[in-house]
Amino acid sequence: MSNKILLSGVKPTGRPHIGNYFGAMKQFVDLQNGGDYDCFLFLADYHALNLIQNGAEMKSLSHNLVLDYLAIGLDPAKSTLFKQSAVSASTELCWIFDTIVTMPYLMRAHAFKDAEAKDKEINVGTFNYPVLMAADILLYNTDVVPVGQDQKQHVEYARNIAEKFNHIFGEIFKLPEPLILESVATVPGTDGRKMSKSYGNTIPLFATREEIIKAVMSIVTDSGAGIPENVYAIHKLFKPEVELKAFYSENSGKYKILKESLIEEIDSFIKPLREKRLELVKDPENVIRILGDGAVRANEVATRKLNEVKEKIGVL
Ligand code: ADP
Ligand code: TRP
Repeated sequence: MSNKILLSGVKPTGRPHIGNYFGAMKQFVDLQNGGDYDCFLFLADYHALNLIQNGAEMKSLSHNLVLDYLAIGLDPAKSTLFKQSAVSASTELCWIFDTIVTMPYLMRAHAFKDAEAKDKEINVGTFNYPVLMAADILLYNTDVVPVGQDQKQHVEYARNIAEKFNHIFGEIFKLPEPLILESVATVPGTDGRKMSKSYGNTIPLFATREEIIKAVMSIVTDSGAGIPENVYAIHKLFKPEVELKAFYSENSGKYKILKESLIEEIDSFIKPLREKRLELVKDPENVIRILGDGAVRANEVATRKLNEVKEKIGVL
């Protein structure tokens, strides 16, 4: 039996944090190594363009995200690693979908509603975000999409768009499933809200020891209870809860001890990743090679699918 297809992407919009890692990126590595999936993992640079509108910055963030992918254990011999922008079939399919997706449907998307609630001037790229994401997913006959909770609705949009297209033009798209691990669906940040680059409450995945200390010391502990909820919530990413519960009750109210223990836990987890990344930085050509090979492999699959679509809609 042939392998199932796994696909996911991360936007090159800044340093990944442990929320990105536990919520999504760790699953990329675990499932890649499990051997049951053919993995397509990309940098969603065209989605990031909604935010990063400076060429040099985009280049550097994209390069860095590939280093991050490699440092956590993604292996170009096992997974196809590529840039979204290298597969023009995605933006082409996005246009085709645009002709069957309605505006009221897109207006119900959380990301759009949030932006609207903030009274932001919304660009068409942000409005159309779920359609490009649907194209990314559906081009590869994807079975599963490992993501955090905040992306669940987008995967549902991809399913709905696939169903609608299949209904109008005939069966062609497989319906993808989101893969969301309940315990890490929404990793909290240092202030207890969802960890997010945009809230400034992150612990970077490749943080230095100093950055880890600073972030952990800033964790909000105003719960009043003996067990500081926000510290515990992050701690349990690194240590089994059975051990943690005993430790927290022994040290009830001793926030300094609890935080110091968390610092050590995070640092010993991050240290080998940080070191591997420092090695990888030395070979920038490697990143270019990997993305070049990945683009060839991704384009093979995507172009085949796009041609089937073009036949269905009668342009080929
Ligand atoms: P951010 O939300 O920090 O801007 P991205 O949008 O690039 O990051 O998200 C990359 C992946 O990480 C997505 O699958 C997203 O769902 C996941 N993710 C982001 N933040 C969290 C979090 N706090 N908890 C769990 N998963 C998260
Ligand atoms: N929207 C995703 C995020 O913000 C990134 C993304 C773009 C993606 N296309 C995708 C994720 C396709 C999974 C599948 O993190």
